Amino acid sequence: MTDWLNIAGRKVIVTGGSSGIGASIVAELLESGVQVANFDLREGQQQHENLTFFATDISSREQVEANVAKVEEQFGTVDGLVNNAGINVPRLLVDAKEPHGEFELSDAIFDKIFAINQKGLFLMSQAVARIMVGNKRGVIINMSSESGIEGSEGQSAYAATKAAVNSYTRSWAKELGKQGVRVVGIAPGIMEETGLRTIEYETALAYTRGITVDDLRKNYSKTTTIPLGRSGKLSEVADLVCYYLSDRASYITGVTTNVAGGKTRG
Ligand SMILES: NC(=O)c1ccc[n+]([C@@H]2O[C@H](COP(=O)([O-])OP(=O)(O)OC[C@H]3O[C@@H](n4cnc5c(N)ncnc54)[C@H](O)[C@@H]3O)[C@@H](O)[C@H]2O)c1
Repeated sequence: MTDWLNIAGRKVIVTGGSSGIGASIVAELLESGVQVANFDLREGQQQHENLTFFATDISSREQVEANVAKVEEQFGTVDGLVNNAGINVPRLLVDAKEPHGEFELSDAIFDKIFAINQKGLFLMSQAVARIMVGNKRGVIINMSSESGIEGSEGQSAYAATKAAVNSYTRSWAKELGKQGVRVVGIAPGIMEETGLRTIEYETALAYTRGITVDDLRKNYSKTTTIPLGRSGKLSEVADLVCYYLSDRASYITGVTTNVAGGKTRG
């Protein structure tokens, strides 16, 4: 399917490849003949001769550096990095109904979201970019979110990390372009169900918006907020990852593309 991209044989690290969007990216890369290293906390369902799992907490410099070194040793090099792992815990800045209650943003939740979505992405990018700069080639793909541009009620800390991700994409593209390394971003909107959409997540998000979980679910395909009128397929993100990794995208760097069916608000 993706033969025209000619990415077979490339060596690519995907973070958070055991679930949701990351698992879909891993599946499509394997289908395209790519050798994949999955950096996740736990191993996923997929088994393939070209897939290797590295148990990694991306917020730990020690684990990131040790496992990137192992990939370089085992694969010979790294051509691509997909910074996909991320978490989201909906919370309000101030809960007018229940000040200091369970749905207000706490230090612990704030720190955890930033440690994974922002610091983890930085640690992974630094370790892998060292290899790419040495090779004078490579592609880093940062998973953002449409909420990073628009902000999101009940998800301020998450949206802030994704706005920061968009900024890293632009700055690192400027720093690394001279070294032949491209840095690009993808901002998904409302997607098909993934591991992120747990009942705890939906309950918290509905609470922060003053609606029921049923009403929240109706918004997943609302044509007034999503012009294409449906949730995105996970493969629609994976397709763009394959394209970005390929030389067909050789003049694209420093940009983040919305894969959100036209959704820009909410
Ligand atoms: N699902 C959506 O609707 C949506 C929308 C916009 C953006 N995104 C972004 O897409 C990315 C993937 O989200 P998803 O919905 O597939 O989520 P998911 O929960 O299904 O998958 C995330 C994966 O990341 C892993 N992970 C979490 N913390 C980690 C850590 N410290 N170190 C290593 N791995 C870790 C998890 O184990 C999991 O396998 C995230 O960056 C998310 O913000 C998702």
